[in-house]
Amino acid sequence: MNYDEVMKLALERGFYFPSCEVYGDAHAGFWEYGPSGVSLKNKFLELWRRELIRRDQMLEIDGSQIMSKSVFEASGHLASFADPIIKCTKCGSTFRADRLIAEVSKVEIPESADLEDFDKAISENGIKCTKCKGGFDKTRRFNMMFRVGIGPDGVDAYLRPETCQSIFVDFPRLFKTMRGKLPLGIAQVGKSFRNEISPRQSLLRLREFYQAEIEVFCNPGKLDGLEKFTEIQDVVIHVQIDSEIKSVTCKEAVESGMIPNKFVAYYLGLLMSFYEKTGIDVSRSRFRKLGDKEKAFYAEVAFDFEVETTIGWLELVACNYRSDYDLGSHAKKSKEKFEVMDDDVKVLPHVFEISMGIDRSLYTILEHSLKDDKENERIVLSIKPYLAPVHVGVLSLVKKDGLKEKTDEIFLKLKTKYDAFLDHSGAIGRRYRRLDEIGAPFALTVDHQTLEDDSVTIRERDSMSQERIKISELGSKLSVRVSFP
Ligand code: GLY
Repeated sequence: MNYDEVMKLALERGFYFPSCEVYGDAHAGFWEYGPSGVSLKNKFLELWRRELIRRDQMLEIDGSQIMSKSVFEASGHLASFADPIIKCTKCGSTFRADRLIAEVSKVEIPESADLEDFDKAISENGIKCTKCKGGFDKTRRFNMMFRVGIGPDGVDAYLRPETCQSIFVDFPRLFKTMRGKLPLGIAQVGKSFRNEISPRQSLLRLREFYQAEIEVFCNPGKLDGLEKFTEIQDVVIHVQIDSEIKSVTCKEAVESGMIPNKFVAYYLGLLMSFYEKTGIDVSRSRFRKLGDKEKAFYAEVAFDFEVETTIGWLELVACNYRSDYDLGSHAKKSKEKFEVMDDDVKVLPHVFEISMGIDRSLYTILEHSLKDDKENERIVLSIKPYLAPVHVGVLSLVKKDGLKEKTDEIFLKLKTKYDAFLDHSGAIGRRYRRLDEIGAPFALTVDHQTLEDDSVTIRERDSMSQERIKISELGSKLSVRVSFP
């Protein structure tokens, strides 16, 4: 289904909605997750931990969101983390130059292109302000970090624009105290903040957003010696270089030179397997190799993992080979030691990054899972059962004759193990429809027969089939179906 239909579901069924919406001065680009959204997000992250973090015995940290100025002087964000913007000379409206040019004239200019390239495209294509038809000042760069003032003197510090900076500055301590060994993955989930000029499309371009980032520290001399590569070498990935897209196994991707080494290919394969388990249609995905002007300033080689949606291809993950850029910069600025021993040789590790946008991933899961089941006149979120915000609805057919009490009793037993939702009121058909919309894989109904033989009907979301089972069998049935793979 399309963006508007996902938005309707999100607003009406507690997935997400605008922040501060009761006030007129609410700012764009800030959204809240409601109960269904939080439950989905938590399960998505549990899957991420299982499939990536625990699988490879990575370390997970939880760092500060406000970091000192030195961090961003060293990282290059203060100098380089800036978007090209243009301001209308008549009405003062500001636009992202690359986006406005792409929207109006379909000319794609990478955001890190020279400023003259934007000015040239604006004049050649006769682009005017979309609000008042005025002309523009010259393109300039706008730093996207949010500055905050610490203490009464308002000392400069910044909300982190990417979670990974704490991973880099914490690396020496973590490597030492956790008895690290290369290659070592360190991960972090949390909020990042970017002062976007034109936030838009709800979860897709936010000013405050969630990232799940993994930084894998490695010995640059051993990028083709990764033994565990054999575990994923047969995973098929779709790789786009320039305009050509090819479906190849990870092994073929390395052998043909499409992916530079086994180390990078291993993580791309792992990511593909992970997203397949989220229920996203990965046949509509690609790893797009970025050109020099598209890459972030810290990346040596970059592949964006993109998925096709009804509003175009969305970048869900940035896979950046950051070389020794980060550790080298922090070592220089802090004068601390960031080298470590690997097989008795001192190395400054290189970093391969898997930077996942959680909000966009959740949007894509919703869009790819939401179905209009016209035949049965229902909207159904056919999400993977282990990601469903609610695992099971627990319904009483009617409240009277002791059915309410029996239903409450069953709910009490289930609710600590599963995400169960208790519902006593309304027509049963409507209650099923609401559960379908939030993707509950099961609904069980307590009726008069339950009082006689301790059985309930259990309805399956996708097939809508119903069967009677004993209450004593509910636990095993649910646990098989809603467990993580
Ligand atoms: N750390 C990479 C990014 O935020 O895109």
